[in-house]
Amino acid sequence: MTAVGIDAIEIRTGRLKLDLPGTFAPAQGEDPEKYTKGLGLNASSFPDSYEDIVTMGANAAHRLMERKGLTPEDVGRIDVATESAFDNSKPVSTYVAGCLEQVFDGDFHHANKGERKFACVAATQAVDDAYNWIRAGRSRGKAAIVIATDTALYARDDPGEATQGAGAVAMLITEDPNLVEISAEQGYGSADETDFLKPQQQFPSVDGKRSMQVYLARMREAVEDFESVAGATHPDDYAYIPYHTPFPGMVRKAGLLGYRHMIRDTSVEDDLADEIGRQPRREAFDDDEAYEEAIREYVDALAETEHYQEWYAATVEPTLEISREVGNWYTGSVHIARASALRDAYEKDVDLEGQRMLVGSYGSGAQAEVHAETVREGWREEVEAMNVDEQLDRRYELSFEEYEEIHDAHNHDVDSDVEELTTPDSEFVFDGWGRMGERQYRYVE
Ligand code: CAA
Repeated sequence: MTAVGIDAIEIRTGRLKLDLPGTFAPAQGEDPEKYTKGLGLNASSFPDSYEDIVTMGANAAHRLMERKGLTPEDVGRIDVATESAFDNSKPVSTYVAGCLEQVFDGDFHHANKGERKFACVAATQAVDDAYNWIRAGRSRGKAAIVIATDTALYARDDPGEATQGAGAVAMLITEDPNLVEISAEQGYGSADETDFLKPQQQFPSVDGKRSMQVYLARMREAVEDFESVAGATHPDDYAYIPYHTPFPGMVRKAGLLGYRHMIRDTSVEDDLADEIGRQPRREAFDDDEAYEEAIREYVDALAETEHYQEWYAATVEPTLEISREVGNWYTGSVHIARASALRDAYEKDVDLEGQRMLVGSYGSGAQAEVHAETVREGWREEVEAMNVDEQLDRRYELSFEEYEEIHDAHNHDVDSDVEELTTPDSEFVFDGWGRMGERQYRYVE
């Protein structure tokens, strides 16, 4: 069977930066270490007043197509995943295609366009759709572009405000990909949950603590479901494990629980037994409460072991590096975690070809999805071409007053006229409203 997967990735960050420990925490009267140590975040990316989900998505896709030497004729499908859509009917992918037609010869009339919604897991679902479309033999040799794009803003003074972010990830899905092959095996954990939602409103209603429990419960189900088709997972099987990263502190919890699950009944559990005992088994306890307390104690002890810390530092920590600097990108989060892992391997000159990653996506509401990816021969060339570091470095750093204005500029309920803080350069920009209330875009040379 020919490999299908991700051929190339482009990341586009919002052009503004909010320093969380330095600027946001003092203004909110909070300890900066809540951000650096607790949530694991240094900064958030924000969109300038001329940026939105369309400009960020189109700018990422533009660079992707240019870099890969593609014309519209080579692309048979454009899907956008977002939680920040501004239209209940016309999909964001049509706006993106309209932008790209301003700069490429030809058009995308032949391309199937859609929009995927299931909170942050939607872009992984769109990658799946593209994978299935190619596998079904319906792609006529063309590639699919999947774009994850979000302005992940919360209402002012909502606890979620600490984890905001804005950016887009464009992925090219093809046969015989350069970057990673996606496994046919996948696992799901899906349930009707009310942890984070936006019922006809721009900013989310969130039950933050509950959302963290739901994330862990659905992720666990998805791993077990994955194992039912792919066999047991073992920590040594994966070079990296990129998770959906609403903030790195969440992944710290998921990584620890995942490790406990993977080592059960393995020689790693045996090796650790002298130091911290064996994992509690339900049958040894009279009630759930006592069992859960014993599990908590075991997990706390596991977190302190050298075994676990070395594994985490090598396999999970490197996936968080971009996220620490940009915050939550919702649909794009797990995809920047993968990019962060690949960048780490590139920087450390690791021979990654043929090694596997286990990718854990999650969307509130709620659904987790787990699949494996095998790194392909051309991965180095692809990672080398990404310019994410350059983009992060050139962000304009907001004062707290500017942050307040920019938050208002992106609040649909506030009528504000904020001057742009950066100067657009070779990119798509928001250019005002059309006669039917549509948003309009222009390419600035
Ligand atoms: N030094 C060190 N650590 C500190 C600290 C300090 N001075 N102050 C606080 N901390 C730690 C806390 O102990 C806590 O860590 P633990 O959970 O390990 O105990 C962490 O920093 C956060 O502190 P709080 O719990 O006090 O923070 P909070 O009450 O303000 O809210 C939050 C945190 C619930 C995550 C909130 O930011 C939120 O609602 N975020 C949005 C929802 C979200 O991201 N949920 C994640 C799962 S859902 C999902 O993944 C979908 C999605 O993308 C939204």
